[in-house]
Amino acid sequence: MSKQELESIAQAMVAKGKGILAADESMGTIKRRFDSIKIESSENNRRAYREMLFTTKGIEEAISGVILFDETLRTKASDGTPFAQVLSKKGVMPGIKVDKGPVDIPFFPGETVTEGLDGLRGRVKEYKELGAKFAKWRAVITIGDGIPTYTCLSGNAEALASYAAICQEGGIVPIVEPEVLLDGNHTIERCQDVTEHTLKVTFTALYLHGVHLEGMILKPSMVVSGKDNSRQAGVEEVAQRTIQCLKRTVPAAVPGIAFLSGGQSAVSATEHLNAMNNLGPLPWQVSFSYARALQDPALKAWKGEDANVAAAQKVFYHRAKMNSAARSGSYNKKLEEAA
Ligand code: 13P
Repeated sequence: MSKQELESIAQAMVAKGKGILAADESMGTIKRRFDSIKIESSENNRRAYREMLFTTKGIEEAISGVILFDETLRTKASDGTPFAQVLSKKGVMPGIKVDKGPVDIPFFPGETVTEGLDGLRGRVKEYKELGAKFAKWRAVITIGDGIPTYTCLSGNAEALASYAAICQEGGIVPIVEPEVLLDGNHTIERCQDVTEHTLKVTFTALYLHGVHLEGMILKPSMVVSGKDNSRQAGVEEVAQRTIQCLKRTVPAAVPGIAFLSGGQSAVSATEHLNAMNNLGPLPWQVSFSYARALQDPALKAWKGEDANVAAAQKVFYHRAKMNSAARSGSYNKKLEEAA
């Protein structure tokens, strides 16, 4: 695949008014989500849940692509159509999580590096045949006493850059996701410092690996106060610090930035995105790639019951549309409450 083809997929992922649904929960994560509504994480329930999301009428107005987990990319909807096709028929691009999750770094307590490079070239080839247009790899950075260390930042950046290069070589657009966790009692200033350092190191590694910046998407966390810090920064401060941090670190050649929600409430994640887009003009598209902030309200409405599918889809559609409005800075309370 040519560089131009990668570029056009990357641009379509962050097309105006659209963002990405992350529905790539690993087995452990989806079990935790289902535990919260007291249903079993069986293959049938996982299919029913994802089918509820993917068949929601009109989501293509707000959703450009969906990140899937390996099992989901291979799953068929109840009418026998593979999920990848259910999505692509509506003009929504299927994507795939390819990392194998974080593992502890020996001698560096509290820090992890993400695994999954072994055999990745072969998996990318197979995923492309199954219809995936893009991939995702998540690195996890924890803020704490004396951490993150450079060992952690550089190890994760190296893995992210190797992954991104392998994807581009195989004709798939990489989503590069270095997540700085919001857990902890640190200040927002500390979060900003750590996020800036993380992104600097990540983009250096991407450069050294020859990654084509125009053919990738960055998925960062926002600059926020630590969850347990007594001073919780407001919407404007989060937006300003996050944009300042990104302007210092993310080359304008990158077509789009699609944030993760990281445990923020659904409404906060929308408000933050909206406020950032009101700080324009910005050198990149500023979009979303939320899992919890798009899914949680719908998951709670669904509760694992067929009878609730229509209600859950209504809630999911609303959340997607609110974030679509936030893409242009036109989200407000009135729109939120009109549901
Ligand atoms: P959240 O939006 O729930 O943080 O998830 C995004 C994601 O894809 C995590 O890897």
